[in-house]
Amino acid sequence: MINCLICNSPIEPFIDFGSMPLGNGFLLPEQFNEEYRFPMQVSFCPACGMVQLLDQPDREQMFHENYAFFSGTSRYMAQHFKEFADHVIADYLTDDDPFVVEMGSNDGIMLQNFVTAGIRHLGIEPSKNVAQVAIDKGITTVTEFFDAPLARRIITEYGQADAFLAANVMCHIPYIHSIVEGISILLKPGGVVMFEDPYLGDVIEKISYDQIYDEHTFLFSVASIGHLFERYGMEIIDVEPQGTHGGSMRYVIAHKGTRAVSANVAAQRDIEYRLGLHLTETYDKFRRNCENSRDQLMKLLCELRAQGKRVVGYGATSKSTTITNYCGITPDLVEFISDTTPIKQGKFSPGAHIPVRPYESFVQDYPDYALLFAWNHKREIMKKEEAFRAAGGKWIVYVPQVEILD
Ligand code: SAH
Ligand code: TMP
Ligand code: ZN
Repeated sequence: MINCLICNSPIEPFIDFGSMPLGNGFLLPEQFNEEYRFPMQVSFCPACGMVQLLDQPDREQMFHENYAFFSGTSRYMAQHFKEFADHVIADYLTDDDPFVVEMGSNDGIMLQNFVTAGIRHLGIEPSKNVAQVAIDKGITTVTEFFDAPLARRIITEYGQADAFLAANVMCHIPYIHSIVEGISILLKPGGVVMFEDPYLGDVIEKISYDQIYDEHTFLFSVASIGHLFERYGMEIIDVEPQGTHGGSMRYVIAHKGTRAVSANVAAQRDIEYRLGLHLTETYDKFRRNCENSRDQLMKLLCELRAQGKRVVGYGATSKSTTITNYCGITPDLVEFISDTTPIKQGKFSPGAHIPVRPYESFVQDYPDYALLFAWNHKREIMKKEEAFRAAGGKWIVYVPQVEILD
């Protein structure tokens, strides 16, 4: 029997993706034989509403000195985090000489804005290679995993925080009780927590099952986050839906009773109720939707191969590891994946072993079709790739449905 990571109730999987490699585990042929895999199953806890993986690799397997994800690869995300920082500064940092802590600060994409504004800050980023990029930009960074013991050390050294920020990391952490406990002691009595992660409601609606991979231990909702933080004397005071990463939710949280609660919170909970996020049936339907999506994508790719068309993947995202492995996409269906991240280039995609090539390979010899693995950056990419379309190239997308874009 498996128990919920949040409330310890017994839970059962509603979907089994089989044996999966690491989403970011790009590798060389000599490593194929020893490739790490884990059983990827997802469950919903009817008691507290949390959607979660049943198994997860150790954190050191995922976050280390060769971590492949550099936040700064997307210009659109840089703008997004500037706006996030401006919002925090304008609306929440009212004390003199405020102190801001960010968990999972990566290459400093968010904190660089606090440096520019001359605000005291601390980044917490265990993956040393990405942290070094931030340190080189003058961002104060601790290269450790955040948890309750580290929160106590931060208080001793720097004092309590006015704002605790996190983006796309809270949902990565199975030992989340230690995180929330750490936040509750690190945060000043009048401070705010603001974090954002891919939103369960969007995943269910858009059938974007590629949000499920090793690093994403949880898919959060307002209901499940409210329940978790309540255990530590905190409450959601606002929610701000975001378009990033295919649909995210930003949660604004404070110590209970210290700030007014926006009507947005109850309104979003109503939306969740209407979506049926509290019902087991919703997840059974989601599984059937995933199976349909997989079958349609494979049918299309097999047809294109039969017609002798060249298909190339665009963006070697960690999410695409779920797509390629769950659907069974092999290099004879997708010739290579174009990606701008140097550490991924020259390697092969996790599990499916599709070559990852520099962006120039795509531009120099346009394929007939580009399979948009980085669909969450669609707007930015479509704009950048007008020449591909003008040359007759076509895009294949699979969220919210499998289709060829005209
Ligand atoms: N915030 C950035 C990076 C997200 S990737 C963005 O949104 O683009 C998640 C990051 O969290 C990785 O850099 C990883 O090394 C880091 N991380 C994982 N566990 C962590 C923990 N316990 N404390 C702090 N950072 C952590
Ligand atoms: P993400 O979906 O986790 O943000 O990862 C996006 C990946 O796509 C990352 O490896 C960089 C790559 N990428 C490109 O190759 N070209 C682009 O234009 C963009 C926006 C991303
Ligand atoms: Zn639970």
